[in-house]
Amino acid sequence: SSSSSSAAPLLGFAAIATNRNDAISVPVGYSATAFVPWGTPLTGTMPAYKPDGSNSGADQEQQVGAHHDGVYFFPMDAKTTHTNSSEGLLVMNHEYLDPNLFHPNGATLGETRPADEVRKEIAGHGVSVIHIRKNGSNWEVVNGSPFNRRITGATPMDIRGPAAGSAKLATKYSPNGTATRGTLNNCGMGATPWNTYLTAEENWAGYFVNKDATQPREHKEYSVGTKNGRYYWELADSGADEYIRFDASTKGATALDDYRNEPNTFGWMVEIDPFDPEGRPQKRTALGRFGHEGVIFAPAVEGQPVVCYSGDDSTNEYIYKFVSTDNYHKATAGGYLLNSGVLYAAKFNADGTGEWLPLDITNSDFTAKAATAGVTFADQADVLINTRLAADIMGATKMDRPEWGAVHPDTGEVYFTLTNNTGRTTTDAANPRPNNTTGHIIRWREIANNPRGFNWDIFLLGGDVGTTTGSGSNAVALTAENHFASPDGLLIDTRGVAWIQTDMSGSQQSDGPFGNNQMLAADPVTKEVKRFFVGPVDAEVTGVTLTPDLKTMFVNIQHPGDRSTPSSFTSHWPEGGTARPRSATVIVTKNDGGIIGT
Ligand code: FEO
Ligand code: CA
Ligand code: CA
Ligand code: CA
Repeated sequence: SSSSSSAAPLLGFAAIATNRNDAISVPVGYSATAFVPWGTPLTGTMPAYKPDGSNSGADQEQQVGAHHDGVYFFPMDAKTTHTNSSEGLLVMNHEYLDPNLFHPNGATLGETRPADEVRKEIAGHGVSVIHIRKNGSNWEVVNGSPFNRRITGATPMDIRGPAAGSAKLATKYSPNGTATRGTLNNCGMGATPWNTYLTAEENWAGYFVNKDATQPREHKEYSVGTKNGRYYWELADSGADEYIRFDASTKGATALDDYRNEPNTFGWMVEIDPFDPEGRPQKRTALGRFGHEGVIFAPAVEGQPVVCYSGDDSTNEYIYKFVSTDNYHKATAGGYLLNSGVLYAAKFNADGTGEWLPLDITNSDFTAKAATAGVTFADQADVLINTRLAADIMGATKMDRPEWGAVHPDTGEVYFTLTNNTGRTTTDAANPRPNNTTGHIIRWREIANNPRGFNWDIFLLGGDVGTTTGSGSNAVALTAENHFASPDGLLIDTRGVAWIQTDMSGSQQSDGPFGNNQMLAADPVTKEVKRFFVGPVDAEVTGVTLTPDLKTMFVNIQHPGDRSTPSSFTSHWPEGGTARPRSATVIVTKNDGGIIGT
């Protein structure tokens, strides 16, 4: 149902004010309850969470991971009627972790790491599949369910699509370049039209180190470390292959003697079928290799190609579109549709038109531009492994850090958050503010029968009270009910409400006019925006999904208390008191049992 044709206003709740409470705030008439925090026992021997941080690596492999992020509720009947709103699989990402909070006394980074700490940290990353069910009005984990699963930074996975089998993906672990271990820094996600889960590998590059005098472009363009990995996993004191693989420096005579190509097996979208607990995750290389924030699919149309969009969340990087070679047919649709297609990068022109630029070695425009730039690609695998370079060559528009996308269910309009870009000096129409500290949301409409063209406008500029988007009768100014900064998570629900989540960090998170990170609801047609949710102290609000009846909302809280030291916590959410802070999901319901947002 479209918002413009409905009699009642799309947003029926009273907006809440900003605050800096160490708690969840929701509007009058709503309730919020923490659920499945980091460390919740999930599989195997169901090891209990230890509040002093002393769970082992083996424990963590059987517990919910850290730093909850993108999340999706798959109703138990997802593959058929997709209506069950009382039982389903809650699938979520665990992006990274705070070493200060992850072990009893933090972690000593910069020197040899105890191997079990490294094991635990790798297991704190990845994805959780959690079978949940309503018992009365409460949601519970279905303990013992065969669907409960942890996928971590160590889980074996397949590499599929054009880059599978490339010499640049060959490692000692997988000499033929078709497999790797683990997924890392899983930020946003996307549900496919065939009801599988895609998890995005975002800031994976920092987990690796390559100390060679000259890094290959596959590492350098993505900022693989030159001195150490983010958590020094390469220095695990056991020296086990599963840890030293994070050192991609050249050690042996050939690529099969070491892990120089290990970073090339990261930076992809990874498909997981939550209803197939034994299934190996599949890295889908046709969608490109970059700092994938997430992915959003256009509504699938019978007999037409599958279309999805993904942003590269790094300063001055790009927005991409994938169009499958094969057409979608509901009866036979599956992950194979993501193994072949054309990847495009977006160019936003000043006149409000846009172009999708193909990154395709069989396209003469692409090969001509590569030749002009003096860049050589061996094959399409090489193009995809070096997606950023390919988009540079084509002249795509350098964006203010593309984060999540959303597609309006009625209009097909695509919305993307651009979180901020304090490094911007040269502006353009799509990124109009220098030193863009507060970010904005862009949107576009595809042009029928023209896969290369679109029309775009800026939906909303972030900023303090008074910040105005548009001019004249179209001007919309932010107020105390909706001022925000650093938009990141984004969802448009089936009723047409846009849910906008913020990821302020540093001084913007800890100080300034916006309070704690939050979630707002917006009417995409009228641009009415109201603050709906405020998170706890030093936390990001990221990831949101609803049951099909829109009566239960799941919102993820990431890194509460991220300015803590091992002995002094800046948040105690969710337990309160003196407890160690834990990332967790929040279940939001309306007290009258109604639809969220009405
Ligand atoms: Fe993990 Fe771009 O946020
Ligand atoms: Ca994000
Ligand atoms: Ca963050
Ligand atoms: Ca972010």
